[in-house]
Amino acid sequence: MTKTIIAPSLLSCDFSRIAEEVKAVEDAGADWLHIDVMDGVFVPNITIGPPVVSAFKKVSHIPLDVHLMISRPERYIKEFIDAGADYLTVHQEACLHLHRVLSEITELGAKAGVSINPATPSEMIIPILDKVSLILFMTVNPGFGGQEFIPQVMDKVDLIRNKIKKRNLDILLSVDGGINDKTAEVVKNKGMNVLVAGSFIFGSTDYKNAINSLR
Ligand code: DX5
Ligand code: ZN
Repeated sequence: MTKTIIAPSLLSCDFSRIAEEVKAVEDAGADWLHIDVMDGVFVPNITIGPPVVSAFKKVSHIPLDVHLMISRPERYIKEFIDAGADYLTVHQEACLHLHRVLSEITELGAKAGVSINPATPSEMIIPILDKVSLILFMTVNPGFGGQEFIPQVMDKVDLIRNKIKKRNLDILLSVDGGINDKTAEVVKNKGMNVLVAGSFIFGSTDYKNAINSLR
């Protein structure tokens, strides 16, 4: 079994101390850094763009897992890959031509990911499974850190897991939103490989302890 990947969501870090926060979670055992990009259109919040992703890249030593919560992400994928995204995830709901966008991400040299909101059925991504390295199940409505985990989302996972197995695909299953030491158990039991956690890690006084308790 693959080891569980822990990806702290930098949305909840102290942005006045980016370099120190990155070092602190790396020292605490983080496997990836999760970066949330929001445009105020696809989601109600606005966060950061490619220059800030470059800044994170400069001070990090682990893969950057960039989560684009933006409309028509195809306009910006090259910029985010040039900025240092290792995994670049787009939302199914934000793409008119999802298959094309995912192909472009791979052609530009990053690993392609697809994310679905809590209300989006898993069926929507079955036709593009062979185009992705990662599937991100949102367990909150995207836009903000610190929201409550929506357990019903886990009912959508089995269909995808079965398809992956049947077609012998190599895809990481990631989960984002409301992950803490309790919900981590639930999602790991469902076979999730990547746990994204923002407020649980950055809101704790001991990052190492928090990361270990998720693992
Ligand atoms: C929400 C973002 C998440 C967020 C998770 O839209 O995609 O990555 O930072 O935060 P927590 O772990 O606090 O729910
Ligand atoms: Zn995210």
